[in-house]
Amino acid sequence: MTKNIKKSLNLNYGVGFGKTILFGEHFVVLGLPGIVGALNHTGEVVVEPSSSKEYEFTDNSPKFPGVEPITWQMCQKTILKILNHLGIDTPLKITLQGNLPVPNSGIGSSAAHLVAFSRAVNNLFKLGLSEEQINKAAFEGEKVVHGNPSGIDNTAATYGGFFWFQRREKDNIIKPILNKQPIEIVLAESGKKTIAKTVIEALRIFIKENPQVATPIFEEYEEVVISAKNAIEENNMELLGSLMNKNHELLQKLTISCKELDHIVKIARDGGALGAKLTGAGRGGLAVALTPGTELQNKVSDALEQAGYTTLKTKINNNHSDK
Ligand code: PMV
Repeated sequence: MTKNIKKSLNLNYGVGFGKTILFGEHFVVLGLPGIVGALNHTGEVVVEPSSSKEYEFTDNSPKFPGVEPITWQMCQKTILKILNHLGIDTPLKITLQGNLPVPNSGIGSSAAHLVAFSRAVNNLFKLGLSEEQINKAAFEGEKVVHGNPSGIDNTAATYGGFFWFQRREKDNIIKPILNKQPIEIVLAESGKKTIAKTVIEALRIFIKENPQVATPIFEEYEEVVISAKNAIEENNMELLGSLMNKNHELLQKLTISCKELDHIVKIARDGGALGAKLTGAGRGGLAVALTPGTELQNKVSDALEQAGYTTLKTKINNNHSDK
């Protein structure tokens, strides 16, 4: 359990981890396994009873360039869904903060803040929720934001560390994967907006119309994700990087990449990253580069920044909260 989460047990605030999908965006929506890593950058939320009968909302969370602050109008439905799920009807003063920069998509910022919010409400009202109940409450909010999400984001935001994730009708399969040490990565923003819901729907149509293309890709992906789990556990970063490259190639074949993401991936690899791929919804948003060690991380980040992309240097920690 991280220091932040321990600290938050006694107060009216909570934290949730940002995330990067290292393997399996879109594949997880279809029920195939994915591997997600929680970041050591977190969203935080502070809640207190509102001094008036109205909700008060302030967004102090950092943003990638061009991303507007979140307003109460944008998140009212989501917040009220979670409060209704938790049986709370007291108007609240809600403040978003933390060090997780919010991009257009790809870092799990909605899930991080919804987990943080659920923890904060749990602490303020002394609800005694388990980690699983926090995860479920945040997922209620995620459904309002994303329509039909797999649940991978809120799971990473709740538990931290690396996870094997597989969507199931009833209980998702969530298995911690133990990396031997924190792994440095670079996230780069393509500057192109994307909406997960829209890309998921486009992919659904592509698969329906091109089963002869899609089926072998799914088969190949399943081998990639199993090898990736072993590579993480064995700390084989070269293999992990080459599997990320393979995952990117499979997503390209499924039409999920775009020229900006392919450009980031190329610069990162040319700069020495062990692997690079798009992460999240695709067709815009973020890419992730595997850069173990701060020296390589700085080198790859500098190369991407010089090419005009905004980056975040972060890590996937090797901690999990108690489940
Ligand atoms: O762009 P993000 O961070 O919301 O990730 C979307 C990942 C998908 O697999 C496309 C959707 C999902 O719910 O898993």
